[in-house]
Amino acid sequence: MGAEPIVLGLETSCDETSAAVLRGERELLGHIILSQDEHEIYGGVVPEIAARAHLRVVDDVVDGALRQAGLDLADVDLFGVTAGPGLIGALLVGVSWAKAAAFALGRPLIGVHHMEAHLFSVNLEDPDAEPPFVALLVSGGHTLLLWVPEWGRYELLGATRDDAAGEAFDKVAKILGLGYPGGPEIQRAAESGDAAAHGFPRPMLASNQRPGDDDYYDFSFSGLKTAVRTRVLELERSGDLADERANVAASFQAAVVDVLVAKTMRAVEEKGCRRVLIGGGVAASRALRAGMARALGDDGSLHHPRLRLATDNGAMIARAALFRFGRGERAPLSLTARADLPFPGLASR
Ligand code: KG4
Ligand code: ZN
Repeated sequence: MGAEPIVLGLETSCDETSAAVLRGERELLGHIILSQDEHEIYGGVVPEIAARAHLRVVDDVVDGALRQAGLDLADVDLFGVTAGPGLIGALLVGVSWAKAAAFALGRPLIGVHHMEAHLFSVNLEDPDAEPPFVALLVSGGHTLLLWVPEWGRYELLGATRDDAAGEAFDKVAKILGLGYPGGPEIQRAAESGDAAAHGFPRPMLASNQRPGDDDYYDFSFSGLKTAVRTRVLELERSGDLADERANVAASFQAAVVDVLVAKTMRAVEEKGCRRVLIGGGVAASRALRAGMARALGDDGSLHHPRLRLATDNGAMIARAALFRFGRGERAPLSLTARADLPFPGLASR
């Protein structure tokens, strides 16, 4: 192995099949992300279809990334693969593939936690995205507010009690008759809408909450979703939905962003640290980035992944694998995928 190891990162936890070839911490030599469009007609990911689709393309996706890098599989020094959390059938495709490759070549293997990788997605391109920072991880399956004093040590401040932030975008898009995934669709519709047109609730955000309260940092999005559904039904009945769709999208987006920003700022105040990192698919949201940057002001710093690295990708898996490898960790060949893999190093308050 040279001074800078060649890491192959493989991601198959949901509906993206992705492989990346990373040299050292930042040199992305090859990267393929294949988004499955098989789910579109169902308005959400169908687990069985996702697993089969991963199986069909995983070889080609890895080959493609290696070809971009101008390398062979034998040049890989370390294999990193998402071991969870995610859809079990989908995860198994990547884990089985990586185990077989690591075993055949006699190379080390790291089972990566998908959400820890979302944290590292930012550091991959932005060397300043280093702890300490407050992290907001917002994806289709998770909403986590963390205090990160150093890599590998994560203090859980808050989480969603029902729907994840991305899930709320996906469900509201469906209610509005927009496509899947919902986040980008809502963002597009919201561009021509008025965010003040509909006064949707800001769940779990009251000015009388105090840091000791157990809902001070927690999130809830299912009530907001119901409020949108009720409004959409009213608009449908009165025949105003077509005219109001953009306004509803903008007002819903603003409600989610308000809550995400306000809870993150509570953590910023309590920790006395004006450094914030956002990761996960919802970190692609322009409204969230703008809202967070505005709240942090000139003396704060916001670190976010660029669009391609915000949603699921193999590059962040390779980067996180390298971190774990550097700490001396190695996965046994008995590594298994786990739908509910616990976040490594995560402690509750
Ligand atoms: O991290 P990710 O690719 O997959 C999971 O690990 O779940 O996140 C996907 C989620 C979807 O719910 C999608 O609607 C949301 O990220 N998303 C967005 C935007 N782009 C993607 N949500 C809001 N605004 C966006 N621009
Ligand atoms: Zn993700």
